[in-house]
Amino acid sequence: MSKTVIELQNIRRDFQVGDETVHALRGVSFSITEGEFVTIMGTSGSGKSTLLNTLGCLDTPTSGEYLLDGISVRTMSKPQRAILRNRKIGFVFQNYNLLAKTTAVENVELPLMYNASVSAAERKQRAIQALQAVGLGNRLEHKSNQMSGGQMQRVAIARALVNNPAVILADEATGNLDTRTSFEILVLFQKLHAEGRTIIFVTHNPEIAQYSSRNIRLRDGHVTEDTVNPKILSAAEALAALPKSDED
Ligand SMILES: Nc1ncnc2c1ncn2[C@@H]1O[C@H](COP(=O)(O)OP(=O)(O)OP(=O)(O)O)[C@@H](O)[C@H]1O
Ligand SMILES: [Mg+2]
Repeated sequence: MSKTVIELQNIRRDFQVGDETVHALRGVSFSITEGEFVTIMGTSGSGKSTLLNTLGCLDTPTSGEYLLDGISVRTMSKPQRAILRNRKIGFVFQNYNLLAKTTAVENVELPLMYNASVSAAERKQRAIQALQAVGLGNRLEHKSNQMSGGQMQRVAIARALVNNPAVILADEATGNLDTRTSFEILVLFQKLHAEGRTIIFVTHNPEIAQYSSRNIRLRDGHVTEDTVNPKILSAAEALAALPKSDED
């Protein structure tokens, strides 16, 4: 049986805004096993980012239990949680979140800076390997402002991979990209999935769910649907079927 990487038990998250309480998550429970590629869908305001921030230990639930790789996140101190986040989670955001005027290699090295057991030479080597894995071996010294959106997102994915995390979390990772580039990034996520990575991909684009192995749907802070995809489509095939863009 596969290992459980994530377990959520009745997670609630309330935000206090003035006199009002916003119930962003109203009792969310599910588990995710190693090697799943899960899309999380739902309309704007349904709680997707709140859920992802919880999974990424960036936000603490109001109540409920979250076990990450078997560890209860609630019982940890803030510094412990930061270390856990750094070691176990790779983040990919819609706006890439790269340092400007910084090279691809330096951006990818960043998560390893917090790990004293990794030497500078090893850091660089691992960053280069991660960039090669996402097809950017020829852009190592390019700065963020010298790359296209798709390339910046690849750097962000390499940065998420460099620590060999238990889970990769993506929030609208293709949201800012054109159709063709989105499919290129999806091809990459499918490759990572095929290699056994665990991926959680938040999106409001229903099409993307067809390329994942499981889809969880949120509405008003509740899980309303949780289905396994019986027929995972190939992003590589979809990409090949797209009309060629002018620059190619
Ligand atoms: N820091 C906060 N303070 C107060 N309310 C918040 C906060 N963060 C989120 N909310 C509220 O919680 C609800 C869920 O927000 P969330 O950002 O998780 O939605 P989402 O599904 O990611 O939406 P989108 O698709 O627009 O990104 C919304 O009603 C939002 O207004
Ligand atoms: Mg959001």
